[in-house]
Amino acid sequence: MLSEKEYKMNDVRDLVIQTKSENTQCVSASETGKLFVVGDTHGDIDSEKLSDENFPEQSELTKDDVVAQMGDFGWIFHPLGSNDIQNKGLSWLASRNYTLVVVPGNHENYFEIFNLPIIEKWGGKVRVLSLPEGDIFFLERGEIYTINGKTIFVFGGALSVDNAERTLGIDYWKEEIPTWSEFNYGMDSLDKVNWKVDYVFTHTCPMNIIGDVIHKTIYTEGRFKDPVSEYLFEIYKQIEFVEWHFGHFHTDVRLDYSDTDDGIFHCHYNNKPLEL
Ligand SMILES: [Fe+2]
Repeated sequence: MLSEKEYKMNDVRDLVIQTKSENTQCVSASETGKLFVVGDTHGDIDSEKLSDENFPEQSELTKDDVVAQMGDFGWIFHPLGSNDIQNKGLSWLASRNYTLVVVPGNHENYFEIFNLPIIEKWGGKVRVLSLPEGDIFFLERGEIYTINGKTIFVFGGALSVDNAERTLGIDYWKEEIPTWSEFNYGMDSLDKVNWKVDYVFTHTCPMNIIGDVIHKTIYTEGRFKDPVSEYLFEIYKQIEFVEWHFGHFHTDVRLDYSDTDDGIFHCHYNNKPLEL
């Protein structure tokens, strides 16, 4: 884990977390509908898997159906409203025949995301981007939601292994690494449900799983040194779940350890949305 000293960079964020419960409003949540999971989209680079052609099921869906995107969403990268391609992409996603929810990853503009208003939805706090075409929701670290009848522990964020080549506040945001408050909040949330959920949605995965994922990718040991993966390993040691879905590693791989009671891990990237 990072030292406490290193985390002090995030003190301002801690204050934000402490005030989360203020100024929220309630929105009723549907318990019907389908739930899909999809991997990294990186703005217009990897969003083709959501096209009408690649995801034809969407023509039959409604706003009660939810597509959960596992981070490196990338459609909030430039300041909101400042980029035509980004504006059109967000409008298109908001207009779809489903509700899009995002588990933020590392390649996200956290300055913009953390300025979005917080509301209560699906039993937890979410941030909402409201556009004329509809809403896009950003799931918060450490919340447990009930979406369409399924309980889901969510914990976004990951380390950008190429951050030395990036510019802080332009194409890299230090809030990709959670604060102590967020790490603790996740464990407190799990305490309340006796560490038992249906699904886990994260951007990266527990440290102990990376070896099995990474041999199918071009990435190397840099991703083992991620404090989020170390934290998720601590979660993994205690949590009971059926399936754990994540992105980050740019590969599609399903790891089934259910015969040893360790559940099923699914890394998403190029595949079209998977219905759970
Ligand atoms: Fe990515």
